[in-house]
Amino acid sequence: MTIDRLTTPALLLEESVFNRNRAAMTEILQDSTLKLRPHYKSHKCAAIAKMQIADGAAGMTCAKLSEAEDLADCGIEDILIANQITDPWKIRRGAQLAGDCRLTVCMDDPANIDAWEKAAGEAGTMVHCLVEYEIGMRRCGVGTTEEVLALAARLAACPHLIFDGIQAYAGHISHMEDPAERAGLTAENSIKLRLLLDRLMEAGLPARTLSGGSTGTAQLKAAEGLYTELQAGSYLFMDATYRTLDLPFGNALTVLSTVVSAKPGLVVVDAGVKSCGVDQGMPLPLGITAEEIVASEEHFQLHRPDRIPSVGEKIRLIPGHCCSTVNLYDKIYVVDGEKVVDRIAVTARGCCR
Ligand SMILES: Cc1ncc(COP(=O)(O)O)c(C=O)c1O
Repeated sequence: MTIDRLTTPALLLEESVFNRNRAAMTEILQDSTLKLRPHYKSHKCAAIAKMQIADGAAGMTCAKLSEAEDLADCGIEDILIANQITDPWKIRRGAQLAGDCRLTVCMDDPANIDAWEKAAGEAGTMVHCLVEYEIGMRRCGVGTTEEVLALAARLAACPHLIFDGIQAYAGHISHMEDPAERAGLTAENSIKLRLLLDRLMEAGLPARTLSGGSTGTAQLKAAEGLYTELQAGSYLFMDATYRTLDLPFGNALTVLSTVVSAKPGLVVVDAGVKSCGVDQGMPLPLGITAEEIVASEEHFQLHRPDRIPSVGEKIRLIPGHCCSTVNLYDKIYVVDGEKVVDRIAVTARGCCR
């Protein structure tokens, strides 16, 4: 079947580029002590998680308990929820899930540690824990060495929790276009992290794991040899936002759309924010250039295009953000150019709880 037979909007994955991205990540990590623990949120497909494990990933990262359940359900044995879980019923469920896989969660609060210890005790499981260190993104985590030491000591004293180490995710650096700025800030953070790891060691609380990093910092993290796990997600599919960086990954993911209106100065396609994530920016249309793109629910308006296509023409759009786009589809068509060669289920679509 060819892609012109698909009902649009449809999500397409160019198989050759996808496979090159897998190989490029393997190459980045081959001489490094850094292990890949890829982020599930970027594709949400159990079948792709299995491929990543087969490619050598140490386990999977995910954002949500429901994503962790989906991963465990397909046999993934080592799962990190790179977030704090604070809702009482989710803690109970997470503690049970730790009986089905090696589950790691992030902590930044003493009362949350106590709640997990109680739930793991009741479930009769052991839960691995990372203390989250706030390294400049201003999201979760504690910002001082003293706070990290106190949380690590509290974890070490819990019979059902295991202090594994630190999560330090510097998401504010990932998309910096200037490679020197990205490298400089990564190096500054590494100085802070080395001091933190030394203090933990001196306190008798060695961190076996240092987890974080992204597509944009993968090469830097592999070269510096400080982190033990890389949580990169977008590298497999890529998007219009990451495209502007000098990275060894290509755009494998596109949204196939159809032109529904074409007038001088304005072309409209049948994909909009309900089929293409715009939280990091507008999509990049292929084969047509527009001076401005305006998004509405079911349309992208391409203003002042360099050509006027016919109504009905198919246009591929590189999404502004791959992760939020994938969550809008039940399936991804794997393609070789114009030919559909496979279909992958987005098993964790909507798993945002
Ligand atoms: C905690 C965490 N780790 C890793 C990533 C993966 O980043 P990327 O998709 O940029 O590789 C993200 C992305 O938001 C994240 O929030």
